[in-house]
Amino acid sequence: TPRVFSGMQPSGDLHLGNYLGAMKRWVDMQDAGQHETVYCMVDLHAITATLLDPDTLRQNTRELCAGFIAAGIDPEKSILINQSQVPEHAQLAWIFNCIARMGWMGRMTQWKDKAGKNAEAASLGLLAYPALMAADILIYHATHVPVGEDQKQHLELTRDIAAKFNHDYGVEFFPIVEPVIEGVATRVMNLQDGTKKMSKSDPSDKSRINMTDDADTIARKIRKAKTDPDPLPGDVDGLAGRPDARNLVNIYAALAEIEPQAVLDQHAGALFGHFKAALADVAVAKLSPISEEMARLMDDPAEIDRILGRGAERAREITVPILEQTYDIIGMIRS
Ligand code: TYM
Repeated sequence: TPRVFSGMQPSGDLHLGNYLGAMKRWVDMQDAGQHETVYCMVDLHAITATLLDPDTLRQNTRELCAGFIAAGIDPEKSILINQSQVPEHAQLAWIFNCIARMGWMGRMTQWKDKAGKNAEAASLGLLAYPALMAADILIYHATHVPVGEDQKQHLELTRDIAAKFNHDYGVEFFPIVEPVIEGVATRVMNLQDGTKKMSKSDPSDKSRINMTDDADTIARKIRKAKTDPDPLPGDVDGLAGRPDARNLVNIYAALAEIEPQAVLDQHAGALFGHFKAALADVAVAKLSPISEEMARLMDDPAEIDRILGRGAERAREITVPILEQTYDIIGMIRS
């Protein structure tokens, strides 16, 4: 069976974009049963931009694990892991650091955004970030990677690294991965500005819905979301040039698991005041059970650590042999 891999940073503040663009789709792929699924908290990536306080990193990682499980990832059906507990990720990343070219890394938009004008002061890990991401995926020989739109460039780099490794050593060893960027929620937008993506780095908390927001907070943020004065159109073409309106319709569609056109069929002609109340109901119905379950799981951190330990054991049944073969291809002595 083909294998799926995807990861998320334990940087705190899980938001609706992470849920609709990634987690929810991971659960769908797990439940469809067409693939073996591996899902990962990438703690090694989480320290690339800035070092976190150690207790905060531990707390964020457990909270993310609780979020995955609460959203429907079943640690029996999927392999659920924390990156640093499966050391082969970092070991393969070193090899990929020697495959990837400086020029490729410098062209990554995430690097340019995060390092900004002061690249001299950025960590070497931030530059190498995408090579570690390639290793995350390829240490499982995974072929399908469900992510949001913003990860597309990193997955192209993953393909380039695999192709160069295979070419340089004259082997057909690493697969060329397929990004899985599908559905209406691969780019959930900022509630205060429909031309920017929803992100944890926006200073305004009103710009996003956090997975831990309570029902009142969710309803208030949706009520205050930016919109235009026109009523909802009758078809999706009518959303052209209306990014804020389109975003709310897409969020509704993704949460209710229907097409955007079906949302408009139900709400054509409605004013936003009315539509937002309906959207808040759908959002609260979907998200509240997840945040309650997350809180419940967080009451037992030892159980979360046990799940991660078991996940790492299962993962290493796959990663240890693939690393051994890689070292062998390269000419490193195994004795
Ligand atoms: P991260 O932690 O920033 O985001 C996790 C996932 O959430 C998606 N996402 C969104 N989707 C739709 N709309 C949004 N507004 C939105 N914001 C975030 C992201 O696209 C992502 O799928 N580099 C990765 C983590 C990673 C990884 C990997 C992913 C490390 N190794 C291997 C896939 C495979 C990252 O920082 O995602």
